Amino acid sequence: MQWTRKASDKPIARMRALGRLARWTLALLALASALDGADSQTGPRLPNDPFDYAGIVLPDYYRSSNFPGGRRTRRSAIDLDNTPSSNIITNEGATLGRVLFYDKSLSANGAISCSSCHLQAHGFTDPKRLSRGFAGGLTRRHSMGLTNARFYRGGKFFWDERAMSLEDQVLMPFQDPVEMGLTLQRLEALVRSQPYYPPLFEAAFGSTAIDSDRISRALAQFVRSIVSFNSRYDRGRSQVSSPLANFPNFSAEENRGKRIFMTNGGVGRAPCTVCHGSESFSLVSPRGNRNRGTSASNNGLDTSSVADRGVAETTGNGRDAGKFKSPSLRNVGVGAPYMHDGRFATLEEVIEHYSTGLEPHPNLDPALRENSRVEGLIARVGRLAPSLAERLREHSRTPEPYRFSSQEKAALVAFLHTLTDETLLSDEKFSDPFIEPGEPVIARAENSANAAL
Ligand code: HEC
Ligand code: HEC
Repeated sequence: MQWTRKASDKPIARMRALGRLARWTLALLALASALDGADSQTGPRLPNDPFDYAGIVLPDYYRSSNFPGGRRTRRSAIDLDNTPSSNIITNEGATLGRVLFYDKSLSANGAISCSSCHLQAHGFTDPKRLSRGFAGGLTRRHSMGLTNARFYRGGKFFWDERAMSLEDQVLMPFQDPVEMGLTLQRLEALVRSQPYYPPLFEAAFGSTAIDSDRISRALAQFVRSIVSFNSRYDRGRSQVSSPLANFPNFSAEENRGKRIFMTNGGVGRAPCTVCHGSESFSLVSPRGNRNRGTSASNNGLDTSSVADRGVAETTGNGRDAGKFKSPSLRNVGVGAPYMHDGRFATLEEVIEHYSTGLEPHPNLDPALRENSRVEGLIARVGRLAPSLAERLREHSRTPEPYRFSSQEKAALVAFLHTLTDETLLSDEKFSDPFIEPGEPVIARAENSANAAL
């Protein structure tokens, strides 16, 4: 209609001008808040209802124990669970743990958080061989992947098992002079100084009191909640009744690699599963309790241990020299570099080590020693006297490299990549809550990673 068009001309022009003004105002506001956020960290962005950390139902094969390996290692993942009854995961506790894990204000100069050295996209390890602490200093060892840290019998932490529990461990990086450079007192003061913490402590523990014990419990809950069961391995596993069956979603090469990993094709060498056991692929001891109560072992990286004596640095016992813990192999495909010192850049190099590079360390695990010459004897003795057979095996000291063919090596690498859990690596509930919407997560992760070494 003529009338409406005429009458609306002016209002339209005015609305356009107002629209421009509004857009500018919004842009200026966004800029101001961006500049603000550049100096001081804004609070975390959390869902109204917490994510589900506590109600996770683990798949059956995490519970049952039909996993191939030695008699002693045929355990299920939950047999290895190190959750103490005094610190069961709650949604609110793990949520608080997530915020603490990503909070850069909790380091001596506000430069780094746990996540600076434990990156979600890398299975919570650091793609750098050694990590840089708050003041640029380097850590002594390679960072450890945290996927399935919950499943480690004995519940000791670090490559050398110097932390007696995860609750003990999570407070140590804060106090490490290279890593975060705080004292527990200073840590508590910093947490108290952030306005977003009291409500999170109240939700998690019933009151706003903030102390290092609660900080430790919340962080341990968050770390234990990082459990992987959505890899291609899991999708295949849920369609068959045994881990040894061919998985319908695997290529022939991946199935072959799986078989070698779990049985070594029946060649008579120790399957990888005697040490990387259960369907959590967590380190277990092939000798059970006879291994001095530790699952850490020596896998023949060096002929002797001088610079880094591993578990012996904690126990003071020479028989523990060169023994190390390994993280779970879940997400190992994105967890390079490998071993306690990050000496191997690729999985190919790791497999080459087992294939041809085993060194005759005095504490080299019996599972990796030459015993083919006495194999028949040991097998016969083993039927009558298993413990005597085991002692015979310990006596043959020469390393027994696996001598894989090139196809076998490629198959093993292909299999290890099936343990990558893309869901976990991008799941928001394990992600940085301080990231603003629209902020490029990848760029941020690269910034926080350190300059190439
Ligand atoms: C500057 C880098 C850096 C920072 C920051 C850091 N870590 Fe680590 N983390 C490492 C390194 C390196 C290791 C292995 C050290 C060793 O074994 O001697 C490690 C090991 C661990 C382990 C042992 C895993 C296992 O299976 O035994 C856990 C758990 C862990 N860190 C959690 C945390 C938490 C929680 C924080 C924050 C409070 C944190 N880290 C901060 C570098 C870092
Ligand atoms: C005797 C026990 C034992 C056996 C058998 C064994 N491993 Fe290991 N593995 C270890 C230990 C211990 C470590 C950590 C060593 C270190 O860092 O000093 C390790 C580390 C690894 C790592 C690197 C993990 C990381 O995050 O850095 C991979 C991958 C691996 N092993 C794969 C295999 C494969 C594949 C086989 C079979 C061919 C195998 N292992 C057999 C004990 C064993």
